[in-house]
Amino acid sequence: MKKLWGGRFEGAIDPRFDAFNRSLPFDQRMWREDVQGSIAWAHALAKANVLTAAEARELETGLRSVAAEIERDPSVLARSDAEDVHSFVEGRLKELVGDLAKKLHTGRSRNDQVATDLKLWTKGAVQALERALLDVQRALVELAEPNAALAMPGYTHLQRAQPITVGHHLLAYVEMLERDRTRFVDLLARCDASPLGSGALAGTAFPVDRAALATSLGFARATRNSLDAVSDRDHVAELLFACSLALVHLSRLAEDWIFFTSQEAGFLHLSDAVATGSSLMPQKKNPDSLELLRGKCGRVAGRLSGMLTTMKGLPLAYDKDLQEDKEALFDGVDTTRACLEVAAIVVRNARFDADRCASEAKKGYLNATDLADLLVRSGVPFRVAHERAGETVRAALERGVEIEDLPEATRKELLPELAKLTAAEFRRELSVEAVLARRGVLGGTAPARVEAEVRLWKTELAFRADTAS
Ligand code: ARG
Repeated sequence: MKKLWGGRFEGAIDPRFDAFNRSLPFDQRMWREDVQGSIAWAHALAKANVLTAAEARELETGLRSVAAEIERDPSVLARSDAEDVHSFVEGRLKELVGDLAKKLHTGRSRNDQVATDLKLWTKGAVQALERALLDVQRALVELAEPNAALAMPGYTHLQRAQPITVGHHLLAYVEMLERDRTRFVDLLARCDASPLGSGALAGTAFPVDRAALATSLGFARATRNSLDAVSDRDHVAELLFACSLALVHLSRLAEDWIFFTSQEAGFLHLSDAVATGSSLMPQKKNPDSLELLRGKCGRVAGRLSGMLTTMKGLPLAYDKDLQEDKEALFDGVDTTRACLEVAAIVVRNARFDADRCASEAKKGYLNATDLADLLVRSGVPFRVAHERAGETVRAALERGVEIEDLPEATRKELLPELAKLTAAEFRRELSVEAVLARRGVLGGTAPARVEAEVRLWKTELAFRADTAS
């Protein structure tokens, strides 16, 4: 296919540089946006009396035929030797409608064209990411509901700390993903300005109504500085950051669950559908799905780092360096979507081991804080209570028993303020159920609170699914 810029050139392009320079192999996926932008541009030119209305209509028909052809057989793109998707669409349009196609690029540059295409693509990608995020959130809430009251050990420093409910653990990730969702929404608002009509760098020289053009493309507004408009790729970096952070969150879930599925913890069972075996060790069931979820984060964070480095120090306005934006963005978005999709499958197929979770929540002095709190309620200052509870744990450790299993005499000697409690009362006060129930505070792990949170999330997510376009 003929280049869009042949006139000034005498010599032919070196085929090795041509391959290096071409972006069609990866920017072909913006063909819909390129056609959409071109149709809008044709009509904007007609409104500016640069084309007749009939010409604009004919260009639109031709562009729709190009789109239909690609839709029917996308391999036409792979087979083409065009430089980029913009050259492909214009070149094919020329073959279909003839010389009229030569008028389409009036007052336009590939610089404002590609900036527009990429923003349109970004807007679509964010919608898909939001839907995928929502699905993971729903899967987590679905799993939290039956496990809202199930106790398990909670950790800090990977040391057993206090009992929590499984539902509370799961909703922590729903919160993280919710922040990710708002990051997507926020960046979309900033990205929602049409660069079309910015020309190569200085603004188009034809009297195009850029605001109307922006609206016709579904943008909230038109950009206000042509130099910035053609060279701005903030939305690429922002989206890659939002993707990276979402994957940081998934990597943390993955890490928690890899531990939970270990034989040492045994809290969680992964479905065979998302695990693999060992080629050597017949007994193995490996959590590869989770390990990949943990690992993919590095790849997308790398794309972000690459994009920021590409943007750093670029002079105004457009520079070909910016062509590097697309592979980074497409790979970052594809990887994130795949991770979200797999995460939802993993969550929907996971099963918490109720017996193991409940029995482990009783071990390891997870109620020591509550013993200190009991002393506080009997008038002992917290620092003193902490010390005394610590001594009690040491005494229990020495005997190899839990606090509530200490001999009565020892217990009364160590904790005289609680001597009034019968053995049964003392045991009840330190039971997992009591420890959990005390934490009914907003944001706490008490079953009643977690059940209420599950209900809130269900309403919220159902509403969101209804409004998602
Ligand atoms: N393929 C190019 C890109 O992705 C399109 C813009 C080319 N502009 C130019 N002045 N050569 O950035």
